[in-house]
Amino acid sequence: MDLDVAVVGIGRVGLPLALAFADRGLRTLGVDKDADRVATVADGRMPFFEPGAEEVLDRVREQGTLELTSDVTQAARARHIVLTLGTPSFSHIEIDVSQIRSVLDDLLPHLRDGQCVVLRSTIAPGTTEFVAGYLEMHRGFTVGKDLFVAHVPERIAASRFFDEISTLPCIVGGFGSGSGDAAAELFTALGAPIVQTTPIEAELAKIWTNILRYTLFALPNRLMMECEQYGANVFEVIDLINRDYPRGGMKLPGMTAGTCLRKDFTFSEERSPAPGMLLAVSRVNESVPLFLVDGLKRRLAGETLRAKKVAVLGLAFKSDTDDERDSLSFKLMRLLERELALVAAHDPLSPSSSLTLEEAVGGADAVVLATNHSGWQDRAVLERIAALAAPGAVIADPWDCFDQRAVFGVARELADATATPAAAPTVA
Ligand SMILES: NC(=O)c1ccc[n+]([C@@H]2O[C@H](COP(=O)([O-])OP(=O)(O)OC[C@H]3O[C@@H](n4cnc5c(N)ncnc54)[C@H](O)[C@@H]3O)[C@@H](O)[C@H]2O)c1
Repeated sequence: MDLDVAVVGIGRVGLPLALAFADRGLRTLGVDKDADRVATVADGRMPFFEPGAEEVLDRVREQGTLELTSDVTQAARARHIVLTLGTPSFSHIEIDVSQIRSVLDDLLPHLRDGQCVVLRSTIAPGTTEFVAGYLEMHRGFTVGKDLFVAHVPERIAASRFFDEISTLPCIVGGFGSGSGDAAAELFTALGAPIVQTTPIEAELAKIWTNILRYTLFALPNRLMMECEQYGANVFEVIDLINRDYPRGGMKLPGMTAGTCLRKDFTFSEERSPAPGMLLAVSRVNESVPLFLVDGLKRRLAGETLRAKKVAVLGLAFKSDTDDERDSLSFKLMRLLERELALVAAHDPLSPSSSLTLEEAVGGADAVVLATNHSGWQDRAVLERIAALAAPGAVIADPWDCFDQRAVFGVARELADATATPAAAPTVA
């Protein structure tokens, strides 16, 4: 085995991880079936934005510690094989493990005693046991003794990788007696504390980390809808809940989605002994775009969006990333188009956004802050929007990006108002 580690699937999770291993001097192989992605990285370019990654890529290319290939079987040259493949959910509320199975099938004839297969992808409870069983059944290994299998979930959020990789506790769920230590030996190189547990506990800890966040964000989103129903201001209510209350902690509303939160709950829901609760959480978060469309409609002249220009600011699923996968901005735009609105979108980080802020907002009847990019959390941006949009344009800012404490308001009035709470505009 001439390599320390192979990372199979150099996507948003796998590529930063491969860079981190290579940066610590481990002989690392990055593998992806997407030959264009492999060529881009081999050329010294990041295929997506991740803060700090470009510099690390430059460094490891100079050090010569990162090799790249689109041939999956090459991964068998490594002592540790880390799978960072996509694990989407079928619409049946069921994990799709086809990428993992496909790589296991490619590797099966090449695996040898002493190797360690690590599942870094987010997986449904029982998947590590399935993988261990698959390798035992098809190759006769005794997992935990002569081949090692562990789940070491990725818990770092996109755009935080290099901040957190050496500090966030690293959960290691090894299958059988020797797998935990074999996997821990690799991840120790990254410097974060290692916490060993069972595969099932590692799987549950990861998916429930995301279920917790998805649920915590559904509560203010649901409250935002209820406040609209009763003519109350959600930001005032949240302030009343949290202010100096030792047991508070209500989050703020927003367009809660993204590739992880939108599907990880299904990995629990697929075998849930109490089905439905997490589906309800999902339905609340999924309703936010419709809530915003209906709210704009009620506030526009004639209560219609027909032939009205609506600027959607933000295509990424969360702030300061170019990741648009499972972003609710696209659902919002589809719903607006079905109201016959003329949609113009802008996102400074997005590869699929071609309009400038000026082009998108110029003459708009309504503006939606769909993503809370940190560059937009500035009164000057609100003033720019108010100057560019049509007089009387309505703005929807569920994130409270502009600190105006109003989900809906008239852009000009919000921009003219002073920042003091006494003069804050009322909800339109
Ligand atoms: N993106 C995140 O912020 C994040 C955070 C934590 C956990 N996760 C989990 O990590 C896993 C990976 O997520 P991601 O966002 O990096 O996905 P991704 O789609 O960006 O990356 C997956 C990569 O695997 C490659 N691939 C697919 N099939 C392959 C095959 N047969 N052989 C070789 N390569 C193959 C794809 O080309 C792609 O580049 C998922 O389980 C996800 O839920 C993601």
